[in-house]
Amino acid sequence: MATVLITGGAGFIGSHTCLVLIGAGHRVVVVDNLQNSSVEALHRVAELCNLSPGQASGHQVWTSATGESQLIFINGDIRSSEDLDQAFRCGGPGESSEVTAVLHFAGLKAVGDSIHQPLSYWHVNVEGTRCLLEAMRRHACRTIVFSSTAALYGFPKALPIPESSCIQPANPYGQTKAAVEQLLADVAQSEPRWRIARLRYFNPVGAHPSGCIGEDPNGVPSNLFPLITQVAMGIRPHVQIFGSDWPTPDGTGIRDFIHVMDLAEGHRQALDVLLASDEQILTLNLGSGHGHSVLEMIQAFERINGCPVAYEFAPRRPGDVAESVADSSAAKQLLGWSTRRSLEDICRDGWAWRQRNRNGYRNRR
Ligand SMILES: NC(=O)c1ccc[n+]([C@@H]2O[C@H](COP(=O)([O-])OP(=O)(O)OC[C@H]3O[C@@H](n4cnc5c(N)ncnc54)[C@H](O)[C@@H]3O)[C@@H](O)[C@H]2O)c1
Repeated sequence: MATVLITGGAGFIGSHTCLVLIGAGHRVVVVDNLQNSSVEALHRVAELCNLSPGQASGHQVWTSATGESQLIFINGDIRSSEDLDQAFRCGGPGESSEVTAVLHFAGLKAVGDSIHQPLSYWHVNVEGTRCLLEAMRRHACRTIVFSSTAALYGFPKALPIPESSCIQPANPYGQTKAAVEQLLADVAQSEPRWRIARLRYFNPVGAHPSGCIGEDPNGVPSNLFPLITQVAMGIRPHVQIFGSDWPTPDGTGIRDFIHVMDLAEGHRQALDVLLASDEQILTLNLGSGHGHSVLEMIQAFERINGCPVAYEFAPRRPGDVAESVADSSAAKQLLGWSTRRSLEDICRDGWAWRQRNRNGYRNRR
């Protein structure tokens, strides 16, 4: 069993990954400032893992039947060395296990916001990661899995997109992720003990099949899938489809949608490989390898769940691309990973989450 620090662990992908890691027997310490999430997500993770809530050193802790703390929450910011030191000490004196590895999800992710607020994006995504790497050095932890993105590839020249494609982000969000990838490469170069995975996600969607945890962004969702579920639920009037004139068969953008549980399992497998092998730096796409247009996704959701989803067309957004589909053969080869869940699973599980949680995690505890 390892102790794993998960930054942004209360967020969408982080919470599902907490569940997978605890299920694999690991102890998890979450640092999250709850800027785009709720601690309720961690309560739900704990319930799904049969952990009991408690307090230790002023932090929320959940323990197993044998009384061991299995999930710890530090309400903190990755740009604060004090908060990070607390997290690496796992909540204060008396805790024995050291943090073996970090899964780094914390960050800002809305492409549109990044165009209007580049300073915030560089501060949180780049400076936040630099602070985290400093803290890892202070605490002799040299293993990190980083949440990178297909947005790095900008307007790809070939499809499906291999990792060797040009890095040419089309927006500030992608620029910050590219900068962090470079920072990680420099760090790896500086000292052979570092073990780093840079995982480039395509379009994570869906939810845990229990419907207990899922995606719950603050404000109007900037991603397609939570918008679809909110429209189906009657919370919003329609989905806006940005662009009906892309060079694709139905004129809407094509994306590689990946079930969040497949993505979470990819993190566990990447971690296992980093901890067991001599690979110093892994750079891997995580996607299904199948493209579906925005219209196809809406129609699949309507068909599978039997509920209508109104939509209307709007102009293309700056920074969007026509088509983005992963070549994930390297992840298959190096991690033994590939997606196991279908578009049907995505639509059914994502809808189960929204139906059980009309208002997401709000007003629950
Ligand atoms: N969801 C996607 O479509 C997608 C695609 C590619 C890459 N990613 C990357 O994956 C990571 C996780 O994405 P997600 O969809 O789970 O997003 P999310 O917003 O649900 O999760 C991010 C978490 O980080 C936390 N956070 C933000 N700033 C912080 C700070 N300064 N200190 C501590 N915590 C902070 C937020 O509160 C949130 O819980 C992000 O880095 C994102 O850029 C996401």
